[in-house]
Amino acid sequence: MRERAQRQGIFVSFEGIDGSGKSTQARALAECLRTEGRDVVLTREPGGAAGAEEIRRLLVEGNPERWSAETEILLFNAARRDHLEKTILPALDAGKIVITDRFADSTRVYQGAARASLRPLVDKLHALVIGLEPDLTFLIDMEPAAALARGLARKSGEDRFEDLGLGFQQALRAGFLELAQANPARICQIDGARPMADISAQIAQIMRAWLDRPAP
Ligand code: ADP
Ligand code: TYD
Repeated sequence: MRERAQRQGIFVSFEGIDGSGKSTQARALAECLRTEGRDVVLTREPGGAAGAEEIRRLLVEGNPERWSAETEILLFNAARRDHLEKTILPALDAGKIVITDRFADSTRVYQGAARASLRPLVDKLHALVIGLEPDLTFLIDMEPAAALARGLARKSGEDRFEDLGLGFQQALRAGFLELAQANPARICQIDGARPMADISAQIAQIMRAWLDRPAP
């Protein structure tokens, strides 16, 4: 994989538990940046490319016990590799801003932190087949009970993970907060329990400050 420094684009991810408002805020940031005349690719995981979207269906539909934890990690990485090759890297090479709704932090937290013994496998696989981190990550943090109520109200039919319940979502929240503490330069923690417009304004302000930062 080519070195990050050779690319011109900017890679931004949104992370958080289910129903925290990631998709809403990713869309809002994309619209805001487009209004400023920037070239933005808005994408999501699992998915974001034709093959990866096919793998998504295998992952998000059906019985929660459908896959072993190891198989699930391989499927998420297969989807991510396709997403990277077909969507993310071409856009970054073309100098665009890529905004993705979830990336590798989701695997670290959902597959790794929730089942701690698997974290080394998650990290090794990421290093071997992905090897790319976002420049900036917005972690939308909120109380799982409130986020779950939003998610369940949505009823998308993609309920395999949301069906895992409140205790699981609490472990996920803790996992994301731990990642944010360990990566303060990359991950911005955002309070997601506020009105949408307040959150969007804060995120736009942080993004603008990042874009205007002096060159290192
Ligand atoms: P995620 O992508 O994290 O699962 P979504 O952006 O799809 O979350 O939001 C889940 C639901 O909550 C949607 O119905 C959305 O309209 C609503 N929602 C998102 N952000 C907020 C907010 N700040 N306040 C109230 N409702 C929100
Ligand atoms: P997503 O569509 O983002 O769900 P939501 O909008 O409800 O947050 O992701 C689908 C599910 O896949 C979600 O429950 C999180 C899970 N997931 C993982 O377990 N590992 C991963 O690496 C990714 C990207 C998602």
